[in-house]
Amino acid sequence: MEKERTFVMIKPDAVQRGLIGEIISRIEKSGLKIVAMKFIFPTLEHAKKHYAVHEGKPFYNGLVKFITSGPAVPMVVEGENAIQKMRTILGSTNPQDAAPGTIRGDFGLNIGRNLVHAADSPENAKYEMNVYFEKSELVDWNWVQETWIYEQ
Ligand code: RTP
Ligand code: MG
Repeated sequence: MEKERTFVMIKPDAVQRGLIGEIISRIEKSGLKIVAMKFIFPTLEHAKKHYAVHEGKPFYNGLVKFITSGPAVPMVVEGENAIQKMRTILGSTNPQDAAPGTIRGDFGLNIGRNLVHAADSPENAKYEMNVYFEKSELVDWNWVQETWIYEQ
């Protein structure tokens, strides 16, 4: 079974609303393994690199302003189909369309304040990890719980 890594970031709205613990807890309980995490104030450089694919779109300026407006928690998580699994845990981009039981469905109301980011492809995951982390900040560790998460 192939394990994959994805980039996730708890956005400033979720930090301000005191949802860091709730969100990390949902990720941990899903079985995904955290391999990097930190608490930072995103810079304009972070935001421009992270959202380069959205440059020129109508929501771009607001998005960059928002992501640099307060502390955030970038993370790298690992597991079977981690990219798709994290997007499922988050729910639809617009919280109005997100199913109950997803983070955006349970805690969000507005597309510009949708609480958590997760990469949407292996290429973007790798690119985004490099925006927020040095290679040396990714932690290789053995999670004993994984013997009960994956068929051996
Ligand atoms: P994310 O990148 O944050 O995980 O979300 P996503 O893939 O589901 O959505 P994406 O299309 O990549 O858009 C990135 C973020 O831009 C904001 N957005 N606002 N006002 C709008 O129409 C609009 N569209 C997108 C959202 O905060 C979205 O998460
Ligand atoms: Mg996206």
